[in-house]
Amino acid sequence: TSNHFRHVESMATLPSGAGKISKLNAVILGEALASEEDDLIVPSQDFSAQAHICSPEKYLEMYKRSIEDPAGFWSDIASQFYWKQKWGQPVYSENLDIRKGRINIEWFKGGITNICYNCLDTNIAAGNGEKIAIYWEGNEPGVDATLTYNQLLQRVCQLSNYLKDIGIRKGDAVLIYLPMLMELPIAMLSCARIGAVHSVVFAGFSSESLAQRIMDCKPKVVITCNAVRRGPKTINLKDIVDTAMVETAQNGTVVDVCLTYENESALEKESTKWVDGRDIWWQDVVPKYPATCDVEWIDAEDPLFLLYTSGSTGKPKGVLHTTGGYMVYTATTFKYAFDYKPTDIYWCTADCGWITGHSYVTYGPLLNGATVVVFEGAPNYPNPGRCWDIVDKYKVSIFYTAPTLVRSLMREGDEHVTRYSRKSLRVLGSVGEPINPSAWRWFFNLVGDSRCPISDTWWQTETGGFMITPLPGAWPQKPGSATFPFFGVQPVIVDEKGVEIEGECSGYLCVKSSWPGAFRTLYGDHERYETTYFSAFPGYYFSGDGCRRDKDGYHWLTGRVDDVINVSGHRIGTAEVESALVSHPLCAEAAVVGFEHEVKGQGIYAFVTLVEGVPYSDDLRKSLILTVRKQIGAFAAPDRIHWAPGLPKTRSGKIMRRILRKIASRQLDELGDISTLADPGVVDQLIALSDS
Ligand code: PRX
Repeated sequence: TSNHFRHVESMATLPSGAGKISKLNAVILGEALASEEDDLIVPSQDFSAQAHICSPEKYLEMYKRSIEDPAGFWSDIASQFYWKQKWGQPVYSENLDIRKGRINIEWFKGGITNICYNCLDTNIAAGNGEKIAIYWEGNEPGVDATLTYNQLLQRVCQLSNYLKDIGIRKGDAVLIYLPMLMELPIAMLSCARIGAVHSVVFAGFSSESLAQRIMDCKPKVVITCNAVRRGPKTINLKDIVDTAMVETAQNGTVVDVCLTYENESALEKESTKWVDGRDIWWQDVVPKYPATCDVEWIDAEDPLFLLYTSGSTGKPKGVLHTTGGYMVYTATTFKYAFDYKPTDIYWCTADCGWITGHSYVTYGPLLNGATVVVFEGAPNYPNPGRCWDIVDKYKVSIFYTAPTLVRSLMREGDEHVTRYSRKSLRVLGSVGEPINPSAWRWFFNLVGDSRCPISDTWWQTETGGFMITPLPGAWPQKPGSATFPFFGVQPVIVDEKGVEIEGECSGYLCVKSSWPGAFRTLYGDHERYETTYFSAFPGYYFSGDGCRRDKDGYHWLTGRVDDVINVSGHRIGTAEVESALVSHPLCAEAAVVGFEHEVKGQGIYAFVTLVEGVPYSDDLRKSLILTVRKQIGAFAAPDRIHWAPGLPKTRSGKIMRRILRKIASRQLDELGDISTLADPGVVDQLIALSDS
């Protein structure tokens, strides 16, 4: 293991051939420097004694085997699942080296299984039919519901039967646009049961984003609901779907069926707009179907789902995950990273519209037979104590959330936390962006009463499951570090030439060799898959993140190094926001960068050049922001619009974002060399407009 772990000075820029990757972000967590490295928080003896992985030695022993004998290591784990037919040989095959031809990853090929069967039927067969699978907590306190494993299976089977009846078959795409109702995991599992490929679109995306995704994956059916209440607001989802479908139809993609769940608490059925012949109320049809449904047995390498995520160009990428490896990987990472035990009550605050909700609300926990809390509402509604109210109500023992939520609750004051017991908590988790040490400490000391280890899990939509994560009983923790790789994962840090650097260093985070949960392609665009992830540093999967490894081998994620910004743990491509802005008739040009934001981690900072002669005004600023909300979704709305009569460009016309980032973060004395600009005067002009 020592080769995981030693110091090289930080980074310059990538070779010019490497596309749009920019200079490595400076450690955005200014705090996470040297002194943090020496702050070790050791798990209590009691905790370690009961943990699956109780010591560094135990971890190292398993880790070593997972690297030296991946086939044996993962076969042993995979054997604990139900397979209709065992996988063939080799257990896995891979080519991650673009110089050797097509990128290819396969695990357990020839193995026949079904992930829904492994989530539900096998747990029921093991005697857990009456165990609670889902505690559902509505937006309004006091509105709740439960489903046992038996009930969940019945609900899933009814929907599977309905989907089959309307002609959905193995391999067909089903688009799901639902909020955090129980029907969301039900719909995912129903698709998986019959081999249909689900594509969940986060219900905060706008009609235009939804339309774009519908046109890409061409589903026969869209599953949605009439409306949802999030905090004090009602969002009329069905209207958004209707608008999207008008747009897709104009472009030749007609969706046959829109199955609409009636969410009574949000909106009257009568006020929902309706297209006869296409729209069907879920409650009118689904409950009439039989509550048992045979599963479709599928190959480990058959697709399970598509999930769109942002990249450095405007078009979202359809990340494709397959069945067998994803199943084994999400279940195993869940078990070890949260030290899961059958008595745990688990709550992950993520929405199933993101990968975290796929892997760690639905599949990972249910594969383990866990009891999961699914929460419809906003975590600060009706007050900032809501999370701890829910923790106490359900006796949540594992609580998994995002740093942005931790930071926003931190600002509300400790009394919102301390007035709840929180005694049930045992393990805490963090995901989505680097957690700054001060937020880490507040989470650890206050929320967890200095008793609960924090699993700061680094991973991505593409990786399917955790890649670098603490195993809570094993290692001492360092606030702000994701610690060490999960079993089977070989993270490497490379320099700008793609050369691996050993020991203490910082650089670009890559992964050498595949792991079962890895994505297999980008839907319909294998070439983009290869160029985006496997070309910058041939021989490796490139994550898009920067990383520092300290003298003890701990990993410190430093943020994206490409043109992707991470706002409240949501990935947003700067190009997507730019293309939304320039679609505004009065916007001539736009350049978007991230800037440090106290609560969101990063905020969106847009430099906008207006069409010649148009006066800059506050109304126009609002209207530009509205355009982005409409085209992408509210979560992508720029935090700042900076008027830019001109943008800093090189003589070849390339925008120098490095300079824009410095202006956005007001680091005006660090602008660097601006002499290569076509017109260095624009910089002064921009600075003069900084506070307008
Ligand atoms: O920059 C990293 C950040 O989130 C990115 C992945 O975003 P997405 O695919 O939307 O998945 C989010 C949930 C897994 C990464 O490239 N990120 C995620 N987790 C962490 C993180 N950065 C630092 N620490 C983490 N624990």
